[in-house]
Amino acid sequence: MQSLNKVVLNSEVKNKLMQAGKIGRDALEFGKSLAEPGAYLLDIAEGIENFIIEQGGKPSFPVNLSINNEAAHYTPYPGDRKKLSTGDLLKIDVGAQIDGYLSDNAATVEVGNTGKYSDLIDSTREALNQAIKKLRPGIAIREIGKQIGTVIESHGFHPVKNLGGHGINRYDLHSEVFIPNFDDGNGKQLKPEITIAIEPFASTGPGLIHNGAGGNIYILDSPRVRQDEIIYKNFNTVPFAERWLAKIMENHQRYLKDMMRSREVSQFPVLKEHRGSMIAQSEHTIIIGSDEIIVTTA
Ligand code: CO
Repeated sequence: MQSLNKVVLNSEVKNKLMQAGKIGRDALEFGKSLAEPGAYLLDIAEGIENFIIEQGGKPSFPVNLSINNEAAHYTPYPGDRKKLSTGDLLKIDVGAQIDGYLSDNAATVEVGNTGKYSDLIDSTREALNQAIKKLRPGIAIREIGKQIGTVIESHGFHPVKNLGGHGINRYDLHSEVFIPNFDDGNGKQLKPEITIAIEPFASTGPGLIHNGAGGNIYILDSPRVRQDEIIYKNFNTVPFAERWLAKIMENHQRYLKDMMRSREVSQFPVLKEHRGSMIAQSEHTIIIGSDEIIVTTA
């Protein structure tokens, strides 16, 4: 991956990570307040992204608004008319960046406060908190996953096995280190001086995600990045939305199509569980220091 983006956790970098975490957390809280029955997903996503910019940050990635059996990777397209309905289980996944230092956090909202899935939501929040308590440099990766899976199963649900947390580097949202949501047998140890996101997903179904249609979120294929290219100049190497591109250029659809054809850009598919299953998610970003654990989005 992009080893040049490997973060050295000096105090300046830590301050930027903390600031990014605080803006990301506040943006998530703001997003929850917008999640009312009848609200347009487009207004929620743009409202949250504008909030981040007003606070002095930039989005780490397009706001993900995923509903019911969708786990992740849907963002509204330009002119999207999709609305929230009472009873929808909405995952809001959002992050802010300061100078390429990223945060990533998520929460699940029951639209209209129906209360039907509060235990599913609680299972992910509790799993996240219990996993964070276990964190220390040197812990086996599988132990973190085991903690997450055990808590979710104790509530009677299934952890999603093929989604999980991830390392975070500068301008690099999904770097090495995969943090599973169950005991995956990975005996490797968690290294100190890194930033990670932990994101338990719980399902009322089997806990296996598959790829759906494109979710309007794209990324530059990093090995081929040209520094003078418009996407790189505006968004660097973080994921970007078709909406963002539409605001900075004419004929953005044509440009995207050409960039995909030449394999310089790829689109993320929506990640979804079987129809009829419900998915909840909670997420925080955490600095693993040599002698301190800091939840930047707390
Ligand atoms: Co994440």
